[in-house]
Amino acid sequence: MIDQIYRKTVLTVAGNKAVESVMRSRGWGLAQRFVAGHQADDIIQAVKDLQKDGIGGLLDLLGEFVDSPDTANAFAEQILSLVDQAAAAGIQPYITVKLSGLGQGLTVDGEDLGLTNARRILGRAKPYGGFLALDMEDHPRVDVTLAQFRSLVGEFGHHYVGTVLQSYLHRTEKDLADLADLKPNLRIVKGAYLEPESVAMQDKADINASYRRLVYANLKAGNYTNVASHDDGIIDDVKMFVLAHGIPRDQFEFQLLYGVRRDLQKQLASEGYRVRAYIPYGDDWYPYFSRRIAERPSNALFVLRGMFGG
Ligand code: FDA
Repeated sequence: MIDQIYRKTVLTVAGNKAVESVMRSRGWGLAQRFVAGHQADDIIQAVKDLQKDGIGGLLDLLGEFVDSPDTANAFAEQILSLVDQAAAAGIQPYITVKLSGLGQGLTVDGEDLGLTNARRILGRAKPYGGFLALDMEDHPRVDVTLAQFRSLVGEFGHHYVGTVLQSYLHRTEKDLADLADLKPNLRIVKGAYLEPESVAMQDKADINASYRRLVYANLKAGNYTNVASHDDGIIDDVKMFVLAHGIPRDQFEFQLLYGVRRDLQKQLASEGYRVRAYIPYGDDWYPYFSRRIAERPSNALFVLRGMFGG
């Protein structure tokens, strides 16, 4: 419960326009702990550095909640160019996107622009052996994101597109069951948004128990599972679970955020597990940075010290 109060406080303060304006003008130096840089070259370099330790990359151009088709299309163009640049640099274009940044909810030529742009990106990435993961955002977007995931799997196949389920939502176990026919590639996360009690669990123990159930169910169903967490308890339990159930190491991977628990990332890779870091880059770093601060009180201290000295 204290975790939830802390999270709610940080996300509420972060949403204040005055705070946002100060942070946007003075916070970039601090954000660089979690964000690889502004340009595609920066993320490509970050992937190459991680690859030396046996860690792959999830490439994320920062951007979300876009409300104009032109901005959404410009954002999609930047991702298409990232796909080409990554492939040219010998890196798998494993892209992760927020559909709200690609125009989800805006209708152009009778179709949802988020879906149209996701299709364009997947069409570009697939021939390079790439992959597109659809991040999960706040709860009003879950239905449409899952429906768009279903369409994309139907068009491109489940080896090329994945999505995310959040263990804090009451609905998620049913969502997992409803997706079963797709043999879905799923990233399981706890959930990073400020959600009301009516839709999301608030107690950490409940969220963690739900997390384990989702991972175990997707693994047991034989589906590729991305275990996206920095939680040592969960990671250890997943290691035991796969051992006990004879689940091969090429059926799952651990995913962690760039700049978070680098020690753990390296350790997992050195133990022979597949590991991938979620690497964001771009100019729209503030909402992403706020969510990282909200996940851990010591990150707020790091910001306060960075902003005000000491
Ligand atoms: P938890 O928050 O319980 O933390 C466990 C431990 O991990 C902490 O004690 C600390 O040691 C460490 N830790 C966690 N967060 C940290 C941080 N920010 N800084 C430093 N240490 C930290 N969410 C979402 O809603 N939609 C999405 O699409 C995604 N996508 C996604 C991809 C990947 C690869 C990851 C790792 C996470 C996401 N998330 C997400 C975020 C996710 O929902 C969640 O908010 C964070 O992963 C934090 O939860 P943990 O599972 O790490 O555990």
